[in-house]
Amino acid sequence: MVTVKSAQEIELMRQANMIVRDTLDLVGKTIKAGMTTAQVDKLVYDYITSCGARPSFLGYEGYPASACVSINEEVVHGIPSPKRFIKEGDIVSVDVGSIYKGYNGDAARTFMIGEVDAEKKKLVEVTKQSFFEGIKVLKEGARLGDLGWAIQSYVESHGFSVVRALVGHGIGTDMHEDPSVPNYGTAGRGMRLKAGMTIAIEPMVNAGTFDVKVLADDWTVVTRDGRPSAHYENTVVITKDGCEILSL
Ligand code: MF3
Ligand code: CO
Repeated sequence: MVTVKSAQEIELMRQANMIVRDTLDLVGKTIKAGMTTAQVDKLVYDYITSCGARPSFLGYEGYPASACVSINEEVVHGIPSPKRFIKEGDIVSVDVGSIYKGYNGDAARTFMIGEVDAEKKKLVEVTKQSFFEGIKVLKEGARLGDLGWAIQSYVESHGFSVVRALVGHGIGTDMHEDPSVPNYGTAGRGMRLKAGMTIAIEPMVNAGTFDVKVLADDWTVVTRDGRPSAHYENTVVITKDGCEILSL
């Protein structure tokens, strides 16, 4: 069921998403070569709980951590580990969710560690920009296919591919609500958006093929060709003539 949020609910979503934004800003200032992904996770857990919020990923369908930390060919859902070290030249996607006063925030960034090669740098920049290209089409009455096509066409014009197996989602009192929000599609098709709908838009972009697989830990999604992948996500609310990004 797709829901439209009241002004009061949107204010709570703003607060939950500001906690997520601040958490990711803190990670961006702290993350460096030599850290483990478990240290990133602890930073996320400690900061979210210090805000009086709860990390929404922790325990979600058995997920064992507060953040997803996905390095290089890992697309999303990398499980933090005290044995996994971040290295110079890596790109590291960090995905974080919080629940505050019953409402969810969800966002992700991909960080470049020190000097990264030209392809990874372009991949990270195109992935982030694809989100901003996508939201240009948003407003009451726009269709989900308009959004998906805007993201996909921008990504493909740079020679990269959009992951198909995972999509964005509605968000509110649940982290995952209807509708599904693909990062690909056909302009003029799909559900029409209404002002007050809150959705998490999260392009996952691969340097090579869009094909992915899940590792034996049942969580970590990696590219099938082993080439790098980047992720960028914000929660937004649709308005009459555009959208407001709640997690920036
Ligand atoms: N932010 C993610 C999403 O949008 C990931 C959550 S997966 C979890 O779906 F299980 F770790 F919570
Ligand atoms: Co999400």
